[in-house]
Amino acid sequence: MPIPALTSPVLDPQVVSVLDRLHAERRRPTAGGPRRGGGSADPHDYADIGFSIRPEQGDLIYLLCRATGATRVVEFATSIGVSTIYFAAAVRDNGGGTVIGSEIVPEKAATARRNLADAGLEDVVDLRLGDARETLRDLGGPVDFALIDGWPVGSGPTLARQVMEIVAPQLRVGALVVNDNAEPDYLEYVRDPAMGFRSLSLPLKGSTELSVKVG
Ligand SMILES: C[S@@+](CC[C@H](N)C(=O)[O-])C[C@H]1O[C@@H](n2cnc3c(N)ncnc32)[C@H](O)[C@@H]1O
Repeated sequence: MPIPALTSPVLDPQVVSVLDRLHAERRRPTAGGPRRGGGSADPHDYADIGFSIRPEQGDLIYLLCRATGATRVVEFATSIGVSTIYFAAAVRDNGGGTVIGSEIVPEKAATARRNLADAGLEDVVDLRLGDARETLRDLGGPVDFALIDGWPVGSGPTLARQVMEIVAPQLRVGALVVNDNAEPDYLEYVRDPAMGFRSLSLPLKGSTELSVKVG
């Protein structure tokens, strides 16, 4: 018997069509970009570039949210809404809930809102415009799942680490956290058992850190 082709676990055709479009439109900055050197580190200089998670990372997020029945999710950050769409689809398919997004660039937040509306998911999302270190201070109750994506800063603790320190106390025991960029000071935090997490590096897009809050 032939082995069936692996397709995305996200099935809603309206959601799939927006995700397919956004993945197809993915492009890189022309002048190096914030991480590679040569490019600006000011997020406002990349208003039209998503830096979005890959489809396999989105599929993982969707499946884990479905497996755990997640209804309260937070993400740093939203950009143009790709990760948000995977989360919002899962939360809706779990029966409803809230995805708290965060984005500092107003044009990106506006694009994300349009993409979420195109996918029919805008009602599930509370997108907070501003610096995530402020907008995510009060998540309104225990959170089931967090994405700590990131953005480079010049020196000192990475944004991933700073935002994790704000979000971690608001996660329920058993909550899952995914990190995309393997920032060393973020990994130092989640891989230290004293911080209350157990962690695993998955071979997706190089490395994707999956952590569980255990205490
Ligand atoms: C890697 S992208 C997020 C991609 C998104 N998670 C996805 O997969 O679709 C990082 C985003 O962080 C935003 N950002 C940078 N600094 C921020 C801050 N202090 N607060 C909120 N958002 C910020 C950038 O504008 C950028 O859109």
